[in-house]
Amino acid sequence: MKYESQRVAYWFFATCMLLFVLQIVYGFIMGFAHAGFDGLHNVIPFHAARATHTNLLVMWLLAGFMGSAYYIIPDECNRELMWPKLAYVQLIALVVVGVTAIIGFHFNWWEGRKFLEIPRPLDYLVVVDVLLFIANIGMTIWKAAHRSTTAMVLFFGLLMAALLYLPGMIPTDNQTVDSYWRWWVVHLWVEGVWELIMGAILAYLLIKLTGIDREVLEKWLYVIVGFTFLSGILGTGHHYYFIGTPRYWLIVGGVFSALEPVAFLGMAIWAISTARKGGRQHPNRVALSWTVGCAVMSFVGAGFLGFAHTLPGVNLYTHGTLVTAMHGHMAFWGAYAMIVLAMIVYAMPQLTGRKLYDKPRAVFAFWTSNIGMIAMTLAFGVAGVSQVVLERRVGMDFLAVQHEIEVHFWGLILAASLFSLGIIAFIWDFMRYGLPVGELSGGAKPSADAEAPPPDQVLEPAE
Ligand code: HEM
Ligand code: HEM
Ligand SMILES: [Fe+2]
Repeated sequence: MKYESQRVAYWFFATCMLLFVLQIVYGFIMGFAHAGFDGLHNVIPFHAARATHTNLLVMWLLAGFMGSAYYIIPDECNRELMWPKLAYVQLIALVVVGVTAIIGFHFNWWEGRKFLEIPRPLDYLVVVDVLLFIANIGMTIWKAAHRSTTAMVLFFGLLMAALLYLPGMIPTDNQTVDSYWRWWVVHLWVEGVWELIMGAILAYLLIKLTGIDREVLEKWLYVIVGFTFLSGILGTGHHYYFIGTPRYWLIVGGVFSALEPVAFLGMAIWAISTARKGGRQHPNRVALSWTVGCAVMSFVGAGFLGFAHTLPGVNLYTHGTLVTAMHGHMAFWGAYAMIVLAMIVYAMPQLTGRKLYDKPRAVFAFWTSNIGMIAMTLAFGVAGVSQVVLERRVGMDFLAVQHEIEVHFWGLILAASLFSLGIIAFIWDFMRYGLPVGELSGGAKPSADAEAPPPDQVLEPAE
């Protein structure tokens, strides 16, 4: 850790771990409900579980992005954060708003719009909170003597993500108009500006872990940003096929969204070739696994599985089925969960002065969670394709089909158990790291080996 204020990142990462566990619990509640065991229905009906599962996901990913930014920006700008205390206030406010929203879902206080279920009054609080975050990061960059491309792309991605939350708040009582704006948030986040955040964090980690020349890496970052916008903006059209918008979206959405995998393929090739060429052997090998793994899994989940149902002729059949859930799981995992976890694996030794990365548990966490997620994707895929055939080709009733495909959810539960084992190992590791250097854990004893040489020296890569 180069700067004192970077330690705030730890608290954001700890929040991620907590919310991630809760997200998984709600995943299992839905998995069992789909398998025919909906015993909690009266307390946690499916819609409440679903809204909680996806909102917790978005919340922990945002906390992860914020933590990553609070870690990366001081390092890239060579200065302390502008207002470190504000960062803590902003984290607490985020958690309070999030927890209120989640509790509200269980009492039917929600908007019923997929991914944007948070009630309007809380939306305003989210906006204020994110603006505080942007101001803190923005002022740190503004006051810095030096600004890197990586820092600027990260900032631009975060700023645009904040601004793009606003279209989702445009009031209307027209279902089509509401859906139209909803996709400005959901699609332009995950297939637009979040990709900038991911690209910037990838660039940062690759620079740190491989020692490849920053100039070369950052040049490619521009190319990837270019491709993302070229395809992703009009690619929004793949959500406008059947919602009551004009017919030209069939062509526009089909053509541009079919090009979207190129940006993800670019990132995968960029990460793999950089890792192979990397001259320096950074001792934190498992952080490199998460980094390259993220680029590869996001290509498979978002690029490949996204393409699989993006053409109008296919989407006509798969729209809104479990095929979407198949793609949603691996895309979110590969692109955004893995980039946050990569950042945590990289930053924890630096923050705490401990080196747990070469322990078998860290490698176990990586492989088990990834193999588990691949198996989950397959289970959703089999359920999804069966659903499409029975419901949309054979013409069976929706609920009759749901009953037919219950068996596939036992496969999902098994796969999710494997995945969860990996995540338990990850979180166990996180807890073993202890608190950031210099912070007191419970009693008066410093939690990390404060005597040890500064972590940056410990981790200096061997030539
Ligand atoms: C990391 C990037 C991505 C993530 C996290 C992601 C995630 C998701 C999620 C969660 C949904 C369901 C949304 C909803 O119904 O509210 C969805 C839908 C969809 N995604 Fe992606 N996606 C990504 C990239 C892509 C790409 C690159 C493509 C195309 C090449 C694509 C194609 C689609 C399509 C066509 C749908 C609509 C499915 C339907 O009609 O039900 N996605 N995506
Ligand atoms: C590990 C245990 C997990 C289980 C058992 C699980 C299960 C489920 C189930 C049953 C659904 C509802 C599908 C439906 O609408 O019928 C769902 C939705 C969703 N889950 Fe999970 N999940 C788990 C973990 C995760 C993780 C780790 C992520 C992201 C990295 C994730 C992302 C999503 C998303 C984005 C949706 C919405 C998909 C859509 O819009 O179609 N889940 N999950
Ligand atoms: Fe999309």
